Amino acid sequence: MRSVLKHSILAGVAAVALAAGGAHAQDYPAQPITVVVPFAAGGPTDTVARLVAQVMSEDLGQQVLVQNVGGAGGTLGAGQVAAAANDGYTLLLHHIGMSTAPSLYADLPYDAIEDFEPIGLITEVPMTIVARADFEPETLEDLIAYIQENGENITYANAGIGAASQLCGLLIMDALGVQMTEVPYQGTGPAMTDLLGGQIDMMCDQTTNTTTQIQAGEIKAYAVTSPERLDNLPDVPTTAEGGLNLEVGIWHGLYAPAGTDPAIIERLTASLQTALANETVATRFAELGTTPVTEGQATPEALADTLSSQIDLWAEVIAAAGVSAQ
Ligand code: MLT
Repeated sequence: MRSVLKHSILAGVAAVALAAGGAHAQDYPAQPITVVVPFAAGGPTDTVARLVAQVMSEDLGQQVLVQNVGGAGGTLGAGQVAAAANDGYTLLLHHIGMSTAPSLYADLPYDAIEDFEPIGLITEVPMTIVARADFEPETLEDLIAYIQENGENITYANAGIGAASQLCGLLIMDALGVQMTEVPYQGTGPAMTDLLGGQIDMMCDQTTNTTTQIQAGEIKAYAVTSPERLDNLPDVPTTAEGGLNLEVGIWHGLYAPAGTDPAIIERLTASLQTALANETVATRFAELGTTPVTEGQATPEALADTLSSQIDLWAEVIAAAGVSAQ
C-alpha cells in the first residue's frame, strides 16, 4: 500500500522527514491519540479498548480516545488505520479478525502484516453460545438437536464476515453440518440489544459482552468455548462437556500503521503494559471472564508471532469450510 521511494532526491526528502520524526518521537505524545475499534460501540472490543485506553491516557499524559468504525466484519476500521498517518496518533485495537480476514476477503484493502506495526497482545477472551431468554432449548444437548432439526429457521447474529461471532458461528455450523440464517450487525453490541429484545434467536459472543446478561438471567447461556469452566460463569458448561467439538479464544492486539517510529512503538508498548498491570483493569477483566496477557506477551514480538501463526491456522479452517466474503 505504501509508495516506494526510488529516486535519490526523494530518498533525501525521506531522510529529512525521518530526522523530523525522530525529534517528534521525543515529545510523543503531544496531542490526543485515537484508537480505532473496528466494531460498534458497546460491544466486546469496545469494552476492552475503553478499559485499556483510560489507563493509557493517564500514563501517556494525553487523552487516548476510542473511535468506533464498524462495518465489513472489522475490515473497514482496520483499512482506515492502515491508510492513516504513521505518526503514532492513530492506532487500531482489533481481535482474531486480523488473522481470519486475509482468508475471507479476496480484495482486502490492506495487508494484515505489511501495513501495521504490532504494539502488543492485550487479552484472550472466551466465547459463550447464547440465545434469547425464551428460546426453546434448555441445555447444550437440546440446542445441538434443535439446530440440527431447524437449521435455517434459526436466526444467528454476528458482526459480519471476519468477526469473532461469525467465526464461532462458522465453527458451530461446521461441527453440526447445518446452516443457520446469519444476520449481520456492525458489532455484537447492537446484536445483543436485539437478542435481549427477542428479535434474534442466538449468537456466540465474547464473555466481555455476555457475562452481565447471563448473570442477570436476561439471556440463555448454553456453553463456554474454553477448555475449562469460567470462574465468573461456573454454571455454564464447556462445549466439550456438551459434546460439541469447538474450542476458541479471541485474542486482541494493538497496532500502529506501518513505518511508525520504533521509539513511539516502544512508548506505546510500555503504556499498554502499564494498563494491563493496572488493578482496576485486571479486576474488571476478571469479572468479565478474561485475563490480561503477561508483560512478555504484551510486546510487538509476541503479537507478530501470534498474528502470523493464526493467519496460517485459520487459512486452513476457512478453506476447508469454503467460506468467503464474496
Ligand atoms: C464487537 O466488538 O462487536 C465484536 O468483537 C464483534 C465480533 O467480532 O463478533
